[in-house]
Amino acid sequence: MITQSPIIEVKDVSVQLGGAWVHQNLNLSVNHGEILAIVGGSGSGKTTLLREMLMLQRPNSGSIRVFEHELMTASSATLLEVQKRWGVLFQENALFSSLTVEENAAFPLREHTKLDDKTIKELAILKILLAGLPSSAAIKYPAELSGGMQKRAGIARAIVLDPALLFLDEPTAGLDPESADAFDELILNLQKTMGLTIVMVTHDLDSLWHVTNRVAFLGEGHVLCVDAMSELVKNPHPLIQAFFRGARGRVVQRRYD
Ligand SMILES: Nc1ncnc2c1ncn2[C@@H]1O[C@H](COP(=O)(O)OP(=O)(O)OP(=O)(O)O)[C@@H](O)[C@H]1O
Ligand SMILES: [Mg+2]
Repeated sequence: MITQSPIIEVKDVSVQLGGAWVHQNLNLSVNHGEILAIVGGSGSGKTTLLREMLMLQRPNSGSIRVFEHELMTASSATLLEVQKRWGVLFQENALFSSLTVEENAAFPLREHTKLDDKTIKELAILKILLAGLPSSAAIKYPAELSGGMQKRAGIARAIVLDPALLFLDEPTAGLDPESADAFDELILNLQKTMGLTIVMVTHDLDSLWHVTNRVAFLGEGHVLCVDAMSELVKNPHPLIQAFFRGARGRVVQRRYD
């Protein structure tokens, strides 16, 4: 069997923000093809870790390898190549409000490829459909869509360059339970059909149980445990127990037992 190196490897990463250490010698590997969630209490550094992986936040020290490139010392040309191979759905979608859904989805193609207008349009529509939107949504502006549809438009844009890696920040936050369930299904389908590796920050317990292969729990400046959800909830660390043993955690766990 050929052993594949991790698609993301975070090693000994430390970062200080606002005078406090948010990460101290944090280690985390993400394997090809898995759906990995990052969880932890508020302020534990989940968003910071995601931003570090995306090179939006530079750690004080440590190593971050993505697609076998060391990002800490990469040239801007290498960073651009790496950025083209990942898609990101930020929490607030960050859709351009003055562009239609189709123009939003097409944006990375216009920025990063030399494809002609007709091909760009076709690829954008394809990804809009793949994201579970009706073709009629293509000519709409973000403000004309529901929250769930806006998330899907954000997904269409995030996958338009056929990335190998997809980052999601709290993708189901603010969605009603039905839309959140449908969004979880979309994530699972995309992972299967596109062979994606997915890294998501979430505190949605339904998503954690239903969608993830592994979950990394952040606390005390590092990853306290990374394991399948069914194992993670048995971890005796007090922070992990406090997080999952709350009333809401118990209710959700019962549904997946
Ligand atoms: N730009 C910044 N300047 C100063 N402190 C920051 C900055 N960004 C984050 N922090 C601090 O770093 C810590 C981790 O923040 P982060 O946003 O990563 O947490 P989080 O786990 O995503 O929390 P939440 O669940 O509330 O989103 C917090 O204490 C936060 O106040
Ligand atoms: Mg956060």
